[in-house]
Amino acid sequence: MIKNIVALGFLASFVFLLQPSLSSAQQTGDITLLKPQTESGKLLMQALLLRQSSREFSPEKLPLQVLSNLFWAANGVNRPDSGKHTAPTASNVQNIDIYAAAPEGLYFYDPAGHMLKLILKEDVRQDTGKQDFVKEVPLNLIYVADLSKFKRGTDEDKLFYSAAHVGFISQNVYLYCASEGLATVVRGMVDKEALAKRMNLRPDQRIILAQSVGYPKKTEPK
Ligand SMILES: Cc1cc2nc3c(=O)[nH]c(=O)nc-3n(C[C@H](O)[C@H](O)[C@H](O)COP(=O)(O)O)c2cc1C
Repeated sequence: MIKNIVALGFLASFVFLLQPSLSSAQQTGDITLLKPQTESGKLLMQALLLRQSSREFSPEKLPLQVLSNLFWAANGVNRPDSGKHTAPTASNVQNIDIYAAAPEGLYFYDPAGHMLKLILKEDVRQDTGKQDFVKEVPLNLIYVADLSKFKRGTDEDKLFYSAAHVGFISQNVYLYCASEGLATVVRGMVDKEALAKRMNLRPDQRIILAQSVGYPKKTEPK
């Protein structure tokens, strides 16, 4: 009995020691994502069969594990040795940043740390698109190209490659959503100038597309 109490006390102090990193993340509002579940989901061919755009969402929030899988699938580091990602980029320039507009605020996905960094504690969802549903979807991704990362090329080249890069990331998100039964749609109908202002982007950061993600709207039983 005494042995058990001592063991419990030891465990409790160990858990207490782990707290600072948790509470510092909570203080900053950053979200440390969980290890992606790479053994889960549908077979690729089934996900391809189910891939589609949906515009009817439930306001239900996405659990942390789903968010963790989603961001990793989108553009996470899949080869830690080289730091390369699930989506390819020309000359491995890795110039696309994923921002995430959620009710709690605007986050920036850091693939190396596999975490979401809070950059604005405001709900900017309604500024992420011209369609009504965007203000209620639990998650709107904004794909931003950092043109300053290219070492050469004209602005036209940089934008062309950036659009291709976002296409790969967006399709990764589509396939993950198809695999998990989530609803999603990629969106070009965005007031990019207004959104860039809201997000405090630099002139060499260009919004390419946005993408909404959530659970499908529940249909009422008849
Ligand atoms: C570059 C691009 C921009 C798009 N922009 C929008 C948009 O602003 N709003 C929207 O509802 N759907 C948008 N879509 C989704 C398309 O309408 C959709 O992919 C198309 O109708 C085919 O449907 P599917 O994705 O289910 O195959 C866009 C798709 C792409 C590839």
